[in-house]
Amino acid sequence: MSKHLITVDHVGSRECLERFFSKAEYYSMTPRDSYREELRGKDIATLFYEPSTRTRFTFEFAAHRLGASVVSTENAREFSSVAKGETLEDTIRVVSSICDAIVLRHDKAGAALKASQVSSVPIINAGDGTGEHPSQALLDLYTIKKELGRIDRLSIAMIGDLKNGRTVHSLARILNNFDDINLIFVSPTSLAMPQAIKDEIRHPWTEKDKLEDCYGRVDVLYVTRMQKERFSDSADYERYNGEYVISNEIMRYFPSTTRILHPLPRVNEISPSVDSDPRAAYFRQAENGLYMRMAILSMVLSTGCEPF
Ligand code: NCD
Repeated sequence: MSKHLITVDHVGSRECLERFFSKAEYYSMTPRDSYREELRGKDIATLFYEPSTRTRFTFEFAAHRLGASVVSTENAREFSSVAKGETLEDTIRVVSSICDAIVLRHDKAGAALKASQVSSVPIINAGDGTGEHPSQALLDLYTIKKELGRIDRLSIAMIGDLKNGRTVHSLARILNNFDDINLIFVSPTSLAMPQAIKDEIRHPWTEKDKLEDCYGRVDVLYVTRMQKERFSDSADYERYNGEYVISNEIMRYFPSTTRILHPLPRVNEISPSVDSDPRAAYFRQAENGLYMRMAILSMVLSTGCEPF
């Protein structure tokens, strides 16, 4: 059984997912004093080679709330020895020898796996390039469950840059654990969900290039931004940015039970005027990230708790 959290495959079973949800729920409902000693004496390193706000803050606050200490490199590309030419492997060998777990964000898909092969402590993938973002997928599922009361029997539209967005790659795959899901992928043709991921999905899915094609039909609108940093041609980015914008006008076509999720940051794909719509769940989703990351750190680090 893996102690690393590199891909959503490491949390595989539904039973295991339920444990994550109930732990996250416990942390969201319970006074802080009840768990603030849980990870006392544990040291966590957060190593971020790409920008982050929510992921890094929620992992670090999660560690603090559980009593662990955190040492962080916010901009590892510039402020770690990588700037002197050190390999990721050497950095991980050294950092893993002096801490209990490493939270790693990297710009290359596969970097977290590479790190796990040389690490003596658990590696938690906080996003590896266009690869995966498993902790985000867990908090996305937890949010869907909290907002809609179930994860089965849902129609979910994923919208935006599905080629480069790692959150949708992880979410599409982790949904294989649930039943009666219908997926609609809405993107420009050149930014479609990668074939390798579509090949793994066991639910029916369709691809559309217009938002209108999912009007009225979905329980979850999972909106993503165009991943500017992954475009080699900035003209392409400018062409697609603004392609799909969720506005109050558009929300008139969806029922009151629909929920809008977004991993954030948003650029302009959700108009700020939608924020006051009760269906806008993305800020609640971001807060859920704290509780889910507490659950992840606890499952990975608590003694006596078999993790995944
Ligand atoms: C996402 C990421 O980094 O992949 N953000 C996040 O972790 N909440 C989504 C994105 O940057 O578009």
